[in-house]
Amino acid sequence: AADVLTEITQVLVTEEEIRARLDEIAAQVAADYEGKDLLLVGVLKGAIMVMADFSRALPTTAPMDWMAVSSYGAGTKSSGVVQIRKDLDTDLHDKHVLIVEDIIDSGLTLSWLLENFASRGAASVEVFALLRKPDAAKVEVDCRYVGFDIPNEFVVGYGLDYAERYRNLRDVAILAPHVYS
Ligand code: PRP
Ligand code: MN
Ligand code: MG
Repeated sequence: AADVLTEITQVLVTEEEIRARLDEIAAQVAADYEGKDLLLVGVLKGAIMVMADFSRALPTTAPMDWMAVSSYGAGTKSSGVVQIRKDLDTDLHDKHVLIVEDIIDSGLTLSWLLENFASRGAASVEVFALLRKPDAAKVEVDCRYVGFDIPNEFVVGYGLDYAERYRNLRDVAILAPHVYS
């Protein structure tokens, strides 16, 4: 593999910081959903790492399902067109759904997803996003749980990719512009 240190300019959120924040949010979610039929819905592929760690930070068991959507393709800008590549296996009827996402960037993916879920009969639908870029928002997304607000830079790692690479970095880092320009 190429030396990844030349491909990132700055580590933004470390593995340890992520772990600590996930513990806090998991405790909050466990309290908020006590006695409720919680279903975790991960958004593939970016949410794989946060789902794996967040779900294990919960003190209770919770079923999980996955939806695969993509709007970025191989570029660094959202196409604005969200495509379903894999739908849920679960009927959302009467479920308390918590969507687990890696990042809210323009907000287009989640606003599209929330609209898509609106007619599926869930008892409630809330969002947990590990990262959010307030300065990149094109649409507002009602997000109940946020891990970290970050600057408007193209970030990779901990599930986030550029052209399918870097998802397996342990930290969240800013990708050096020379990689994609
Ligand atoms: C990325 C990321 C979020 C979305 C956020 O997914 O994982 O799902 O973009 O961007 P937005 O707020 O501007 O819509 P991507 O489309 O790259 O697919 P991936 O998860 O498979 O990488
Ligand atoms: Mn994604
Ligand atoms: Mg992507």
